[in-house]
Amino acid sequence: MALDPNIRSHLALPAVCAPMTAVTGPELVTEACKSGIIGALPPQNAKRFEEFEGWMKQIDDDLKQFRDANPNTRVGPLAINLSTQKSLDEIAEDMKLCAKYGIKIFITAMGNPSEMAKRVHDYGGVIWHDVTSLKHAEKAMQAGVDGMTCIGAGGGGHSGTMSHLVLVPKVRQMFNGTIIMAGAVATGAVIRAGEILGADLAYLGTRMIATKEARVDPRYSQMLADDTSQDLIFTPKVTGVPANWMKNSLRLVGLDPDDLPVAKGHRDRSHLPEGVTPWRDIWSGGQAMDLINDVPTVAELVKRLRQEYVAACQIPDMADAARQSGEALSA
Ligand SMILES: Cc1cc2nc3c(=O)[nH]c(=O)nc-3n(C[C@H](O)[C@H](O)[C@H](O)COP(=O)(O)O)c2cc1C
Repeated sequence: MALDPNIRSHLALPAVCAPMTAVTGPELVTEACKSGIIGALPPQNAKRFEEFEGWMKQIDDDLKQFRDANPNTRVGPLAINLSTQKSLDEIAEDMKLCAKYGIKIFITAMGNPSEMAKRVHDYGGVIWHDVTSLKHAEKAMQAGVDGMTCIGAGGGGHSGTMSHLVLVPKVRQMFNGTIIMAGAVATGAVIRAGEILGADLAYLGTRMIATKEARVDPRYSQMLADDTSQDLIFTPKVTGVPANWMKNSLRLVGLDPDDLPVAKGHRDRSHLPEGVTPWRDIWSGGQAMDLINDVPTVAELVKRLRQEYVAACQIPDMADAARQSGEALSA
């Protein structure tokens, strides 16, 4: 396992509240950090740099106050999602602000992370990059990333299609850095399963959208609790890149999930009804929906995840029998 002990020692559960466009705001990450997991913020969710600046100050103030009032509680670190859709100058400005608040963890999702890895290392931070295949993983390793978020099948957003049961252990064989298991993680037992497969941390996206602090239309969180994975469509038609979309949210904006218009390219929106923006108006979720039945606060959710994780760590194993059989064979 290769998670920096300085990060691990601040966690009460090996988990990350995943960064999410049109979902994550300061409330979600602050509550995640207070609950002892990593909170990941995408600065691009702020409309202007000044708004991002305000968020960073607000998060820092809230967490300082919380630490002072709860000196024995583990408070997770804040991570920042660097958007490849921003210019290098804009990213430099974001990182300068991050330095002011002592941010150490940076997350990248799309494209070749080589340039970002260099910038993050010059800054003195660590970079974790999303991978959905072994080819991506090899490229990320060559780019010099410190961690890989292995997104397996059934995830929300731009999900992977490969089984976690292969992706995570295979990347662990290749890579000594931090591994984060992502896609369809919704319970403490799954977080533990990720560790057994070789991951240091688990990423929770869809599960965190169905919380009180997610900055979403309440119908979105409720739909995650009410609908199932049968109500998802994995298609590139909406944004040009394959992603999991909730069929009932497509219907809400007047689209027929069985007869969708097709995006002409990654940034194309002309095929969508006027004023409709994917992620904000067309909602994404993953197969974790089958395990989501409520919309709790982040604190309530992480408390439950911790309990499930502890229970999973105590599941009886057959290690004695396996050991004894081995001894009998070699006798
Ligand atoms: C609505 C939504 C928006 C997302 N936006 C981003 C993003 O801005 N940056 C990013 O790195 N990943 C983004 N993701 C991917 C998540 O960070 C994470 O990898 C994914 O949600 C994990 O799968 P899960 O939803 O099944 O837990 C998004 C996912 C969803 C569902």
